[in-house]
Amino acid sequence: MQLQVLGTAAGGGIPQWNCACPGCAGARARPHLRRRHASLAVRAAEGRWYLVNATPDLGDQVEDCPALHPGPAARQTPLAGVVLTDAELDHTLGIARLREADDLQIVATAPVRGALLDQLRLGAVLAPYTTVRWRDLTPDPQPLDAEAESDLEISAVPLSAKRPRYAVGTGPDADTWVVALRLHDRTNHTTAVYAPALGVWPDALQEAVDEADCVIIDGTFWDEDEPIRTGISQRTATGMGHLPIDGPDGTARRLAPLAARCLYTHLNNTNPLVDPEAPQHKQLAEWNLEVAADKTVIEL
Ligand code: MLT
Ligand code: MN
Ligand code: ZN
Repeated sequence: MQLQVLGTAAGGGIPQWNCACPGCAGARARPHLRRRHASLAVRAAEGRWYLVNATPDLGDQVEDCPALHPGPAARQTPLAGVVLTDAELDHTLGIARLREADDLQIVATAPVRGALLDQLRLGAVLAPYTTVRWRDLTPDPQPLDAEAESDLEISAVPLSAKRPRYAVGTGPDADTWVVALRLHDRTNHTTAVYAPALGVWPDALQEAVDEADCVIIDGTFWDEDEPIRTGISQRTATGMGHLPIDGPDGTARRLAPLAARCLYTHLNNTNPLVDPEAPQHKQLAEWNLEVAADKTVIEL
């Protein structure tokens, strides 16, 4: 299995266009600290790749990842489709950037598809540009790429009914609004779990990470009070749909005992971990946990 991390920032990115917080200011001054919106490229078969989530940075993310470059024919692309873990804007705004595609395959759960069609009206908006083909993302494993007989299987681990703000009060009350994506390579029996939005820790997720070789997971906030302390929100981390890393209900204490390699992604610009000098990195290393970097390549 081959995964390429295309971005590791939460909504807004680092730097965020309207933000002068230390994390954003630091990234403006030192461009190597910039982080693009959280996304992953997954190799399905020779010359066929899927994006996990389509961010506002999608165009730059493709250009920075040679495996995703088009060719040799003029409009031949290795990008075969997009898998969505949720309907949040930072994970879906990039879909419109793929309108130049001959056709566009989107793999999503039913509530996520409903939000994109009914609230964002993406079906009507994209219809004049390209043909969108929808595929259901379900807890039952299916080949990532049916056409290329991919040995990589995907399945959804249902997480919660947390809707994006634009879809509050709409759609079904289902725990598939936000899912973790489980990727299983049937050739060498490796498994990865990608969960960039994680507000609860259900038993099914524990089972999935227990048997995973690699876990790439929501690291939006370091601790529960970070959004309030830094003045970006009146809500706690968990209240915003993101379990914090540290603390009694934090994800670190769940991840530290695992055999899997564990990396945090979807870092908010307020997270102290965006500063490489922050003391929190020492704590993370003691737990044997990592922060994913943009352009990290993971081979399993
Ligand atoms: C989130 O992760 O909570 C959302 O993406 C926030 C946002 O960008 O609106
Ligand atoms: Mn987000
Ligand atoms: Zn900021």
